Amino acid sequence: MNTSFKPLSNKTIVVTGGNGLLGKAFIEDIKNKGGIGISLDISHPTNFELNQIHADVTTENSISKVINEISQQYGNIDGWVNNAYPRTKDWGTDFLNLTEESLKTNVDLQMNSYILCCKEIIKHMLDNKVKGSIVNIASIYGIVGNDFTIYEGTDMKIPAPYSAIKGGVINFSRFLASRFGADEIRINAVSPGGIFDNQPPSFVKEYERKVPMKRMGNPNDIAPAVSFLLSDQAGYITGQNLAVDGGWTSI
Ligand SMILES: NC(=O)c1ccc[n+]([C@@H]2O[C@H](COP(=O)([O-])OP(=O)(O)OC[C@H]3O[C@@H](n4cnc5c(N)ncnc54)[C@H](O)[C@@H]3O)[C@@H](O)[C@H]2O)c1
Repeated sequence: MNTSFKPLSNKTIVVTGGNGLLGKAFIEDIKNKGGIGISLDISHPTNFELNQIHADVTTENSISKVINEISQQYGNIDGWVNNAYPRTKDWGTDFLNLTEESLKTNVDLQMNSYILCCKEIIKHMLDNKVKGSIVNIASIYGIVGNDFTIYEGTDMKIPAPYSAIKGGVINFSRFLASRFGADEIRINAVSPGGIFDNQPPSFVKEYERKVPMKRMGNPNDIAPAVSFLLSDQAGYITGQNLAVDGGWTSI
């Protein structure tokens, strides 16, 4: 067996929100699998030596500009992971107190930014005849409703628009898969379960009690699934939503 096989060799892959909890693990896994993982994030400056680019995914101009910059610096872009998580200060407001402005702004920041990034990167792939792969990071809450009992006794916030946004991301990935299948551009979603991030102990205990695999996820559980869908090994997989959730959505 060839143990040095690297499934992402010669692939240049952009991860939006690459400086966050999940994004850092995605970049690391892409690198370990032979690819160039470029973090596109609003929270760090541009540094090509570190494969980091400063950009705001919520403005279409910024995305098209940055795609040009990246392709000048690195050549064609083979993969793109929509993962950034912009949100308003009042994100998490209870549904009954949700304002029209907050709802519209978060749908715009989170869902519409994914859609506009897809448009710009697909144009790049079509123009350069790249048989590319796009992975849209969704969530278990784009598949099932929340179990509100696990939050009892904590002040954790449960943002109502999240389910709509992530459900939209999953089905929009199917639309794109169908639209661009003939161009051999693949579009899939990955839906992580809850990732351990020092949440209140009572929440963690309740989450672990309920989830079939009896533990919360960690970023390294999610990253290999993303890398797989970015690789040619997933060359006949498109329009799918891969739940990486310890079985949360299986019950
Ligand atoms: N953490 C979880 O438990 C979990 C579970 C399921 C799904 N997800 C999804 O995974 C994705 C990543 O989540 P996370 O927990 O790593 O979030 P995070 O907050 O740790 O990281 C998000 C990153 O996005 C960047 N960002 C924010 N606004 C931006 C903008 N306008 N332009 C560019 N970059 C911007 C931030 O700087 C940050 O580095 C999100 O889409 C989230 O919904 C997370």
